[in-house]
Amino acid sequence: MLRLINGMTLVIATHNPGKVPEIAALLGENYRFVTAGELNLPEPDETEATFTGNAMLKARHAAALSSEVAIADDSGMSVAALDGAPGVFSARWAGPAKDFSIAMKKVETRLEEVGATDRSAWFTSALAVAWPDGPCVVVEGRVDGTLTFPPRGDRGFGYDPIFVPETGELTFGEMEPAAKDAISHRARAFARLRAALID
Ligand code: IMP
Repeated sequence: MLRLINGMTLVIATHNPGKVPEIAALLGENYRFVTAGELNLPEPDETEATFTGNAMLKARHAAALSSEVAIADDSGMSVAALDGAPGVFSARWAGPAKDFSIAMKKVETRLEEVGATDRSAWFTSALAVAWPDGPCVVVEGRVDGTLTFPPRGDRGFGYDPIFVPETGELTFGEMEPAAKDAISHRARAFARLRAALID
């Protein structure tokens, strides 16, 4: 049975040091965390068409190169009327400057172009844990909502200012971080991961 054991080393397959406290807070402090960046592991191209595919690809890559258990995430926003776009391209729609005002405008423009009245959208977070000898566990969390324009709120990041979760009226960009964390796709994915590998 695949389990995360207290005290074990977990490689976080990211070059973003900001993800370490987030993952440590969500998984608990019982592991020794090291990032792929600290180990100088090369970053693989995210070539898969799904969030789970990309999360598994990143976790497997880091586990194989480090010979340690590795965890990776992949997330993004999908718009129903745009056939799920931007989806796995969520970060790329913000361009090299990572400007999400551009990405949010692009979503609005595309919706106008297709003449869609359906504003349904959802965030997905996939989390994968890979063992160096091959096994891999992947889970997904999702939160549904509707899009609103113009963007509202300066909290959060990415597409938060245009997303109103179905449980409320504020955008993720207007909500208290704790209120977002209570219902977010990421929190739901971590709850599933804990249930699968820790509890
Ligand atoms: P990743 O780092 O490849 O997983 O890219 C995820 C991208 O999806 C981010 O750059 C954000 O644009 C978007 N995204 C994922 N989760 C959220 C969220 O909770 N709020 C807003 N945008 C998000």
